[in-house]
Amino acid sequence: MFRRCVLVTGLVVALASVSSAVNRPADCPKVTIAECCSRLWSERCPQPQCAKQVNRRCPERKALIQSALHPVDLRRSPTKPTVAPKCGTAETGYHPCTTKSVANKLFLSCCELYVPPECHFMCEYEYEQDKTKAMLTTLVTGGKCSLKHLSAILFCASQNRNNTKCCEDLDLNSSQLQVGSRCLRMCDPAGSTIDRITKEDITCLYNWNVIMYCAHSGITEM
Ligand SMILES: *[C@@H]1O[C@H](CO)[C@@H](O)[C@H](O)[C@H]1NC(C)=O
Ligand SMILES: *[C@@H]1O[C@H](CO)[C@@H](O)[C@H](O)[C@H]1NC(C)=O
Repeated sequence: MFRRCVLVTGLVVALASVSSAVNRPADCPKVTIAECCSRLWSERCPQPQCAKQVNRRCPERKALIQSALHPVDLRRSPTKPTVAPKCGTAETGYHPCTTKSVANKLFLSCCELYVPPECHFMCEYEYEQDKTKAMLTTLVTGGKCSLKHLSAILFCASQNRNNTKCCEDLDLNSSQLQVGSRCLRMCDPAGSTIDRITKEDITCLYNWNVIMYCAHSGITEM
């Protein structure tokens, strides 16, 4: 069963500062050489000037340079459909429109472009709380996948959709969490840059199940 938010306190973690910016595919900005390995860009916005940097410093992004190996459409859906869908909405409890296996393929193919392999275990729409807790524990204490890749993982999970409303409706903005509206950033990672993971964010991370449920729910068309 899917459960709502929980407050988690007393976690001791190594906090990593994270530097990464998310660009909006719609305006296709030019990525500077210095940003080639930190900034996220869409395959629709080729950045050939990054080839050298990518080869040397972030080879996991090679596919982005080599053209669309895995076409991932990260455009925002332009308008609301005229007929209300029977899924992915507040009325349907944000029941996802896509199966987990289809959505997971999309998630992972995006991660193959933006996230190094040691973090791919996070690239799965998992929303059973026991399992997400185990994943987060591996993430935070395992020391393999750096937290600096979190914004790219969230970016891939959301497929550039804004899932703020779902997260709000599932209490991720609850005052009980005692972190203000901070967690909502993780539900629209393209809208708000997540450049640093602080202690407060750990409370948000322990609601990963909510974030993943809403991200999966946001994929309403392929
Ligand atoms: C989150 O809740 C606070 C009050 O608890 C409210 O002021 C704020 O507008 C809410 N954020 C969003 C994005 O709705
Ligand atoms: C995302 O959606 C929320 C609520 O639906 C809205 O307040 C917010 O401005 C949106 N973010 C962006 C970047 O459009």
